[in-house]
Amino acid sequence: MGSLSASLASRAVFCALLLLFPLLYPCAADAKVHQHDFVVQTTQVKRLCKTHNAITVNGQYPGPTLEVNDGDTLVVNVVNRARYNVTIHWHGIRQIRTGWADGPEFITQCPIRPGGSYTYRFTIQGQVGTLWWHAHSSWLRATVYGALIIRPKEGVSYPFPKPRRETPIMLGEWWDANPIDVIREATRTGGAPNISDAYTINGEPGDLYNCSSKDTVIVPIDVGETHLLRVINSALNQELFFTVANHKFTVVGADASYTKPFTTSVIMLGPGQTTDVLISGDQTPARYYMAARPYQSAQGAPFDNTTTTAILEYKSAPCPAKGSAVANPVMPVLPAFNDTATATAFAQSLRSPGKAPVPTEIDESLFFTVGLGLFNCPSNFRARRCQGPNGTRFTASMNNVSFVLPSNISVLQAYKQGIPGVFTTDFPAKPPVQFDYTGNVSRSLWQPVPGTKAYKMKFGSRVQIILQGTNIQTAENHPIHLHGYDFYIVAEGFGNFNPKTDTAKFNLMDPPMRNTVGVPVNGWAVIRFIADNPGAWLMHCHLDVHITWGLATVLLVENGVGALQSLEPPPADFPLC
Ligand code: C2O
Repeated sequence: MGSLSASLASRAVFCALLLLFPLLYPCAADAKVHQHDFVVQTTQVKRLCKTHNAITVNGQYPGPTLEVNDGDTLVVNVVNRARYNVTIHWHGIRQIRTGWADGPEFITQCPIRPGGSYTYRFTIQGQVGTLWWHAHSSWLRATVYGALIIRPKEGVSYPFPKPRRETPIMLGEWWDANPIDVIREATRTGGAPNISDAYTINGEPGDLYNCSSKDTVIVPIDVGETHLLRVINSALNQELFFTVANHKFTVVGADASYTKPFTTSVIMLGPGQTTDVLISGDQTPARYYMAARPYQSAQGAPFDNTTTTAILEYKSAPCPAKGSAVANPVMPVLPAFNDTATATAFAQSLRSPGKAPVPTEIDESLFFTVGLGLFNCPSNFRARRCQGPNGTRFTASMNNVSFVLPSNISVLQAYKQGIPGVFTTDFPAKPPVQFDYTGNVSRSLWQPVPGTKAYKMKFGSRVQIILQGTNIQTAENHPIHLHGYDFYIVAEGFGNFNPKTDTAKFNLMDPPMRNTVGVPVNGWAVIRFIADNPGAWLMHCHLDVHITWGLATVLLVENGVGALQSLEPPPADFPLC
């Protein structure tokens, strides 16, 4: 209510201005300002038979869905009534010149302290599809997240048949514990954090878990209707397959960029990724499970191997007597947990709808290794703090740097205010030592160097980054996310990237555009983009346990020429440390 009237009011002001200057603002006619209040608070949430004091936004889990049109402005006043520091990140929003609103703690801002508040203000520019928002502080995003839906500008239609209905499908991950305690414990012991106890669809585990059946999410469909599912992987640490029994998907978008439509019966999403799919009500009216379960590429690592379900229900389906066998929805077949072939086939089917403006000349040619590592136990640590493999502590790195967050100012503030000693700009453009990344890596190369290192580049640089997975400790698929940008994924493959043979395979015609790329297990991916958004942009693995361990770096993009190529000044209520 409040937000609706606020956006109507600001629209009225805007339209009044338009009447005065109709020729000056011809195309802004429909841009709206959406005002929202997010109160971060402790809320009792009961799942898997047990009630927890979960941190939520406005008491909702998942949090509120934001719906905007391309070109609109979002103004979200976040009030922190919880007992933890918090920040909110608008995952995939480019934040052009508004990097202060991006959200990652100690990268673009200091956290909002308990009792504090901060208003995030930004405009959506040229993005359409499904994104989401989530906390970007410790593991709070386990419960602090929601969908962010961007529709085309008014009068612009989708490049596919208009769906009769749209449903966000948020895949989540639930611990029968306080997730903050889970990661604190792991940080203390140096071991791997406890695995989750359930996956969820729109916050509910579904029929296959204890005490969950009566709350299983039901998605209605009519015979003959086209229905758009906006699937979001908001799980903390797990790539997931998603499918609907007896129904085919037509994939039409990913990470708020349209794709060339193709059909498939299963999709795979890493944490951070979204996929828009159309389904049609073309099956016998009945009830069908939609289900998600892990794609687990790390061999031998423990994982939560459960399956979450919701029910696709034809409104005309006969209403069966409770408890009778016909009441059971049809269960789909899901790929095996280690089905890398299916995950790869899906990733490689994604294409831009037409010829894409991929940079062909490159100014910044970068090569980043991504992977895990092990720190030897520091001499001043007791054994109980070194419970990783063989008395070590788990870590992770990019180009052998294990990223350490600053603790009393953000990288962006330090950069803009010229405060020394917070970070250095010597993040290496290529690995300090070259080795057989995906082979049997010598134990001497397992220990990275901790540091807060950024890589600086000029505004407008044409950038290529080869992301090379390593076989250190355990190889696995890493969903690498870049803040502030969408990029083209021009190629991916297995083994070590080979410039002699692999460059020829680059798709410079219609590669998909995304904000998060799954770097194949023991393989590589190549991304390209133009650094046209000044700021400090975190690049990290979206498996939260890996960002905790340091699988991250920061790209610093300098201002260009003039105000339109420069970062705006920070807002007045910008939180201080
Ligand atoms: Cu969803 Cu740092 O990101």
